[in-house]
Amino acid sequence: MNILSIESSCDETSAAVVEMGEGVCRIRSNIIASQIAVHALYGGVVPEIASRAHTEAISHVTDEALAVAGMTMQDVDAVAVTARPGLIGALLVGVSFAKGLAYTYHKPLIDVHHIRGHIAANYAVHPHLAPPFLALVVSGGHTSIVRVKDYTDFETVGRTRDDAAGEAFDKVARVMGLPYPGGAEMDRLASEGNPDAVKFPSAALADGSLDFSFSGLKTAVMNYLHHAEQVGETISRADVAASFTKTLCDSIVKKLDLALRRYPSRRLVVAGGVSANSHLRAALEQFAAKRKVSLCCPPRDLCGDNAAMIGIQAYHEYRAGRRAGLSLNAEATAEVRAEETQQ
Ligand code: KG4
Ligand code: ZN
Repeated sequence: MNILSIESSCDETSAAVVEMGEGVCRIRSNIIASQIAVHALYGGVVPEIASRAHTEAISHVTDEALAVAGMTMQDVDAVAVTARPGLIGALLVGVSFAKGLAYTYHKPLIDVHHIRGHIAANYAVHPHLAPPFLALVVSGGHTSIVRVKDYTDFETVGRTRDDAAGEAFDKVARVMGLPYPGGAEMDRLASEGNPDAVKFPSAALADGSLDFSFSGLKTAVMNYLHHAEQVGETISRADVAASFTKTLCDSIVKKLDLALRRYPSRRLVVAGGVSANSHLRAALEQFAAKRKVSLCCPPRDLCGDNAAMIGIQAYHEYRAGRRAGLSLNAEATAEVRAEETQQ
């Protein structure tokens, strides 16, 4: 079946057409209109501006997704949309647009949880990947360890208690004067520094849980930078970026190690914008080899927000009987596990 999917939960307006079926997972088109240039001016996403930019872009992004796939709405079997979690105004633009399309063209509507979509991006490039597996979700808004028991059966077993990993990357980058969004810039800078130059506190909570706290690590880096500035000490920004990144990666690996002991799995799947980080990928590859588990990462272009991942997950939700009605609403926060079928 062909699914037209829409994603607008944060600062990318995206539409895609995916062809899904038994053993088939093909991305026909995946158009992403990034708002980075608009928000860079403010050093972060401005929700009201994001909603307006989604409204401006969504029609032509969708037209382009259909054109690149060589299809019209007549060839589409279902419309899918990210309905939760995310910026409420931004989500509403996608949800309203998708509802309009489904109503006008008499297509079933499928609502998708954004984080489920990030995990599903892996199905596009790892054809033999199927649940159950353990997933690490690292994005701008989430850092969680999730047990994926089936395509639509999820259990979050570890989470951040404050900032997400991507948020920590972005905030540290901002204090270091790097352009927004800072994650990718930090990745580059860290490659030039010594990861053992500065000792920062771990983000892995020492309480036996699988939870993280990235806020303490972020504050420690900021304090280090401010102190150096106050005493007039010259520091290497590359060393700070490398040391921060190493601490963050070590913290994640530590909790994954504990998670695999608690919930043995032969497969580890990584998802979310921060999974594009080259140092994290290297650390996870090393860890997976040591623990003899197979590691699945999405290609870099499917790590960040995109509609193809939403279409892929929508197929699995559809097969499980999920349909949304025209009363579908967006939700700013939502647990990856709790999904009630809407009618
Ligand atoms: O998944 P995503 O596109 O949006 C959310 O759902 O949050 O993730 C965006 C986050 C941002 O914080 C961005 O800085 C971070 O992913 N990011 C990176 C890299 N590329 C994107 N963080 C570290 N290294 C990267 N190479
Ligand atoms: Zn995301």
